[in-house]
Amino acid sequence: MGASCAEYIAIKDFASEVVLLDIREGFAEGKAMDLMQTASLNGFDTKITGVTNEYSKTANSDVCVITSGIPRKPGMTREELIGINAGIVKSVTSSLIEHSPNTILIVVSNPMDTMAYLTHQSTNLPKNRIIGMGGALDSARFKYRLAEALDAPISDVDGMVIGMHSDTGMIPLTRLATRNSVPVSAFLSSDRLEQVKEDTKVGGATLTKLLGTSAWYAPGATVSAMVQAIACDQKKMFPCSVLLDGEYGLKDLCIGVPVILGRNGIERIVELELTDAEKTNMLESAEAIRNVNSLL
Ligand SMILES: NC(=O)c1ccc[n+]([C@@H]2O[C@H](COP(=O)([O-])OP(=O)(O)OC[C@H]3O[C@@H](n4cnc5c(N)ncnc54)[C@H](O)[C@@H]3O)[C@@H](O)[C@H]2O)c1
Repeated sequence: MGASCAEYIAIKDFASEVVLLDIREGFAEGKAMDLMQTASLNGFDTKITGVTNEYSKTANSDVCVITSGIPRKPGMTREELIGINAGIVKSVTSSLIEHSPNTILIVVSNPMDTMAYLTHQSTNLPKNRIIGMGGALDSARFKYRLAEALDAPISDVDGMVIGMHSDTGMIPLTRLATRNSVPVSAFLSSDRLEQVKEDTKVGGATLTKLLGTSAWYAPGATVSAMVQAIACDQKKMFPCSVLLDGEYGLKDLCIGVPVILGRNGIERIVELELTDAEKTNMLESAEAIRNVNSLL
């Protein structure tokens, strides 16, 4: 999905340069060359290069996206990846920061909320500069499912998913989802909305079962939108996994909540008024994240 992310960044043509880095000899070089050969066709000027473990070539990056690690196979949970991915994320992050001390990090590798927390612990960077990607993708999947249920174009639909980036810990906020400002509950029965919620929660697992590995187009597009919001100082709102310090009554963990993304990374955490049921879901989600964090 790192290559997919680079492709969407290039197509949007807002970045001067993207460097792909991989541990596998020649792989990032090959991906970069293939992508650059689409430049004249897709009309972008972004320069994409690929390197094998040569972190000096990533020096002074404004944003670094960490997608290194193993993806899940059908039937696996994201949490099962922790053993291998924790070591990879820690070493990759430390090498990146060595060459780009002022960078903003977007953590994608799973289990993402725990990897974002680990990145805080291992780097001690200011909390506005570490952003976990999960909720923004889950929200895109939520909108896809809402549009399907409403038989509406996706541009008519708005909705957001907060909480843990996991099959059970995600919280699709059906109460706040709308079709052109009208609550979706005006169009859909509570049973149908419940189905939308459940389909959203297993969005990643459904694709993993179909593809045999984790998805890449929507994750890549999501990260590219987040990178653009930061690079172009757009001040756009996305649910992201961020370190909380009392917001939502939680602290010392990374969990998905709406934030404003701009040139400083996390410009602001947005605190929503949740119902009692949503607050309970949030506490359960936080508990599940703490359980995975305790495996670090
Ligand atoms: N947060 C999300 O919403 C989200 C979405 C999709 C995928 N993911 C996660 O992102 C990760 C990557 O998924 P993918 O489908 O791209 O997997 P992939 O196997 O296609 O790519 C991972 C790449 O990481 C490289 N790598 C492994 N160790 C490395 C190291 N030490 N240094 C540099 N590169 C290294 C591998 O060689 C491989 O090319 C997985 O953990 C997956 O679960 C998260």
